Amino acid sequence: MTETASTPTSSTDAPPVPPAHDVADLGLAEEGVRRIEWAEREMPVLRLIRERFERERPLSGVRIGACLHVTTETANLMRTLQAGGAEVVLAASNPLSTKDDVAAALVAEYGIATFARRGEDRDTYYAHLNSVADTHPLITMDDGCDLVSLLHAERPDQVKEVLAGTEETTTGVIRLKAMAADGALGFPVVAVNEAQTKHLFDNRYGTGQSTVDGILRATNILIAGRNVVIAGYGWVGRGVASRMRGMGAQVAIVEVDPVRALEALMDGYQVMTAGDAAPWGELFVTATGNLNVFRREHFASMRDGAIMANSGHFDAELDLRALREMAEGHVRDARENVQEFDLGGKKVNLIAEGRLVNLGAAEGHPAAVMDMSFANQALSAEYVVAHHAELQPQVYVVPEAIDAEVARLKLAALGITLDEMTPEQKDYVSSWQHGT
Ligand SMILES: NC(=O)c1ccc[n+]([C@@H]2O[C@H](COP(=O)([O-])OP(=O)(O)OC[C@H]3O[C@@H](n4cnc5c(N)ncnc54)[C@H](O)[C@@H]3O)[C@@H](O)[C@H]2O)c1
Repeated sequence: MTETASTPTSSTDAPPVPPAHDVADLGLAEEGVRRIEWAEREMPVLRLIRERFERERPLSGVRIGACLHVTTETANLMRTLQAGGAEVVLAASNPLSTKDDVAAALVAEYGIATFARRGEDRDTYYAHLNSVADTHPLITMDDGCDLVSLLHAERPDQVKEVLAGTEETTTGVIRLKAMAADGALGFPVVAVNEAQTKHLFDNRYGTGQSTVDGILRATNILIAGRNVVIAGYGWVGRGVASRMRGMGAQVAIVEVDPVRALEALMDGYQVMTAGDAAPWGELFVTATGNLNVFRREHFASMRDGAIMANSGHFDAELDLRALREMAEGHVRDARENVQEFDLGGKKVNLIAEGRLVNLGAAEGHPAAVMDMSFANQALSAEYVVAHHAELQPQVYVVPEAIDAEVARLKLAALGITLDEMTPEQKDYVSSWQHGT
């Protein structure tokens, strides 16, 4: 099924040979290119980095194995890495998040080896990850740590070839920190998620908006006046909650962390246990990075017509096994991306099979926010290529200078200038002698 070929040739008499790939339909490439270019217009920071990379080629000769959602924004990151001189190979980080037109365009237009088909089964998902691993990447770029996990679990000899990695999301960082604590991590990884210019904007505003987008595209429900339960009041949960409230929902938060729960309360939300929220809610959204947040006893007390969606990284936040068992086979597609489970006496609905709703039922984050996340990715890749020899097999935060540079470039692109402190102010804030 996987077609393998050499890198594109520049010969004028033969069409370029596509790189190795397994995508749904190369005929979708033209549509993919149009959408990638549309996203690019919203990604000025990444474009500036790409222009510099073209001049300086900081990734020259470096093989990067990427496991990311195959979206228009990711395509622009891949183009940036390629402009920097890297040889890039991409697989999907989720079976449902791939945009087939984008995968086609990456292969046919940009000459980037891509292994991703929307709706691929588990075996194909891992076959695609193995196709990336087969190229022996020197740098890994993960969203959820699946590539790093695969290398460590199944290809230990290859781990020592890897110079360093980067990780995009909260769940991936948690997995990596657990590996580092066990002494199991074989190379340094920069946690892109920990950059301020990543999680403050991407997780909160990007996932916040696109989660609502996914729910609306899948269901076309009215949010105003609806009882919405959000599990997890982290960066993602805060974003979803504020957007739902902005659209007129009555929002309740389910949390396990007392500080976050208190914050939610003082932000003006109701705070409830999952048990109390189950019969109260009409729409449930999970964003915890945890397991079985809503489970059998909660499904049992939900109202007829309740709708559930997950925006956390894995499809583990809703106990889908229990849901299937309770439905005893009475499951049907109510709409595209919505499954209806008949629990006998009532029906409950699940969006996008419990996978990331914003990517499964919509297009993921808006490009303008991925501009900053992927600028951090590109600059972190440049950083680890230059500095891997000084790093230990640990999880590193993105250097402050990169964070500040991303914010500076974004503001400049938006035409916003800032005040600078006067010399008197600089002296005042750095002195301990001033008092009342
Ligand atoms: N959909 C997307 O595109 C997208 C984007 C960014 C992050 N994510 C994922 O979303 C998830 C959350 O990310 P985040 O940055 O908000 O993380 P976070 O750590 O800031 O927040 C998670 C919150 O969930 C709470 N929580 C944990 N277990 C819980 C439980 N059983 N019940 C209720 N609350 C519980 C935690 O106390 C914490 O406050 C992660 O899996 C992350 O990878 C998804």
